[in-house]
Amino acid sequence: MRIEHLSDHSDVISELANWYVSEWEPYYGDTGPGDARADLEARTNREALPVGFVAIEDDRVVATVALGLDVTTKLTPSIIGLLVGQNHRGRGIGTALIETCLDVARKFGHQRLYVSTSVLGSLLDRMGWQEMGETKFLNDEHGSVYVRDL
Ligand SMILES: CC(C)(COP(=O)(O)OP(=O)(O)OC[C@H]1O[C@@H](n2cnc3c(N)ncnc32)[C@H](O)[C@@H]1OP(=O)(O)O)[C@@H](O)C(=O)NCCC(=O)NCCS
Repeated sequence: MRIEHLSDHSDVISELANWYVSEWEPYYGDTGPGDARADLEARTNREALPVGFVAIEDDRVVATVALGLDVTTKLTPSIIGLLVGQNHRGRGIGTALIETCLDVARKFGHQRLYVSTSVLGSLLDRMGWQEMGETKFLNDEHGSVYVRDL
């Protein structure tokens, strides 16, 4: 598995936008406020936020993530849009993308990195992240906000 800039794979933005709509329908669906394609296209920076990444296996994109502003918490830089393809979950790809975000945030000179999530709590606890509060997503699901000093 390789992790590369989204800017090197802009041909997969349409496919990733469809994944986003399926996974986060209340936000990216027809009646939601988000625009998946526009958000992904904005992440084709390399040296500035928001910066997107993809995980590649056998020349196919299997996951994506970005470092940027979290629209729910308004915290930046945050890990945003982390999505691993359904057939590729549970094999460490999400963890590897989180590590990439940590490395890139350090390289950009940030002192803290944030993420809001309702599913990654146990993993983030193990990776040394601190829970700093709660948040509510658009689908009314409650999540926790985590911070990691860099
Ligand atoms: C959550 C997600 C990114 C994890 O990616 P992954 O590649 O499966 O993750 P890893 O294999 O590195 O496992 C990391 C942790 O993710 C969680 N996880 C793994 N598979 C999961 C699944 N199918 N559903 C929910 N959480 C899962 C577990 O907490 C796991 O830690 P564990 O070792 O305590 O079980 C992936 O399941 C996904 O894309 N889910 C849908 C979108 C989403 O919820 N994104 C997260 C937004 S913060």
